Formats: sequence, C-alpha cells, structure tokens
Amino acid sequence: MEQLRAYLEGRFKEIPGWCHPQLFQTIQPLDQLQRRHGVEGPVCEIGVLKGKFFIALMKLKQARPHYAIDLFSLERRDFDQGGRGHLNKFRTNIKRNGGNLDDVRILERDSMEITRRDIDRILDDTDGGFSMFSIDGAHTAEHTIHDARTAMALTRPGGIIFVDDYYNANWPGVQEGVCRLYFIDSPPFVPLLETCNKLVLCHRSYHAEYLDYVGDFVTRHFPDSRVKQVKRFGFDNLTITVNQETGAALAPEDDEPATAEAAA
Ligand SMILES: C[S@@+](CC[C@H](N)C(=O)[O-])C[C@H]1O[C@@H](n2cnc3c(N)ncnc32)[C@H](O)[C@@H]1O
Repeated sequence: MEQLRAYLEGRFKEIPGWCHPQLFQTIQPLDQLQRRHGVEGPVCEIGVLKGKFFIALMKLKQARPHYAIDLFSLERRDFDQGGRGHLNKFRTNIKRNGGNLDDVRILERDSMEITRRDIDRILDDTDGGFSMFSIDGAHTAEHTIHDARTAMALTRPGGIIFVDDYYNANWPGVQEGVCRLYFIDSPPFVPLLETCNKLVLCHRSYHAEYLDYVGDFVTRHFPDSRVKQVKRFGFDNLTITVNQETGAALAPEDDEPATAEAAA
C-alpha cells in the first residue's frame, strides 16, 4: 500500500490517462478484503493506454504475471477513437515507476479476438486467474459484452472487475452492453457499486460481505464522499460520489488489512 500511496502522490499525476485518484477510496478496502480471503492473483487491464491505472493496480499485488491488453499499433481495429495505447510509453512508464517488464505480459490485440484457448492459457499462466481486472478498451456494446465475459472467465471468485465509463454519456455502448448482459443472462459477477466513472463487479458469493465492508470503510474514512444505497439489476449496490476537490485517495496507514492468517 505504501508503494501505491507514493505513486498516487507522485508520478500518477504526470501520466496522461483516465483515472480519478479517489477511486482508491474503494479499492483500498477491496484489497484488504482480498488479503483477508487470500485472493492473491495478479491484475489485468484491457485498454491500458499509457498505464496510469494499470500501474496503480500492479502496485497492490505481489502475484505475477500481470497482463496488459491493448490495440497499441493495430489502428485498423480502433472502433471508437477513444485514444490509442502507446507501447513504448507504456513500457517506459512501467519501468520509471518501479515495475519490471518481465512481470508483465503484453498482448497487442483487439480484445474481441481473445478466444477460449487464450483464456485457458492465461488461467494456466496465472495459476488460476486475476484478482483485479479492468475493462477500458473499445466502448461498443459488443466489446463490452465480450470483455465482460472474458473478465469473468479470468477473474478469481474473490476478485473484482472494473467497467469504465458505465454512466458516461459519450460512451453509451458500455451501459447498453452491461444491460444486455444482465437482462439476458445471470453471470457469476454482479454489480457491487459505482464510483469515479467505474462500475465495480464482484462475485455473487462475496457480494454481501464486500458491500458492507466497503460502505462502512468509505463512510468512516472519507466524510466528504457520499455513500448511497441503491439497487442495480436487483442487487443491493452503492453509488459512491467522491469530492474530487478535497477527497483523499487513501485512508491512513494504521487501518491496514488483517492477513488471511490473522483472520483465520
Ligand atoms: C480510454 S483508453 C484507456 C485508459 C487507461 N485505462 C488509463 O488508465 O488511462 C482506451 C484504450 O483502449 C485501447 N483499445 C481500444 N479498442 C481496443 C480493443 N478493441 N482491444 C484492446 N484495446 C483497445 C486503446 O488503444 C486505448 O489505449
């Protein structure tokens, strides 16, 4: 957590990209819960751009290898002109921020082309999948559905999936894709909360515990954030509205997690 804190207070601000620091008000308690449950997988992002959010997620987790999936130079497949990843800048940012490129598998790929065979290989390579998975690639409804299914297949049951731009009116395909997914199917990961432009999903088996813990954590530590109880697709959920002017990114260090051993 200290490495993440240093990154958020330093170079995070210099890397162009799309991520609010106050998003970590919610990620900190989710990381604590994962440690408590021994959920130790690496992280993955579809749509890394220059690594702003990916590097932050990397700093939370010891497990390897992490996966970065982006079109990078595959311009022909750029469906929504949302900004294109820069492989050299991505690599440089990983190195400049204390990361090791040997710990990161880079897939220069349209995420829509990820197949069942890729999924099996990645599950094998990561010893059972990821603990945190961010979806921020193409914003069409079709990509959102495909990326969400990929993420659910590759994320451990105690893991977390972030879907960027769910309520962003400039990218209506994201909401359309998520709605189609939940109206026609009952996938294992379901909405938990929305904050900082991201819809956060967790596994049904962990939902009640994660909801209580995160709501309580944010209410206690960030009085300038509003935590509202809502329903999404029939599931109890939170909408966490942060104060982007005054809101801190992380709670103090003395509220660090119980380990799996301590909790046992
Ligand atoms: C909005 S940016 C991502 C921002 C990034 N997550 C951050 O932390 O700043 C979208 C990224 O998705 C990538 N992208 C777009 N379409 C994609 C696709 N079909 N498959 C994989 N990546 C894609 C783009 O190259 C770009 O880097």
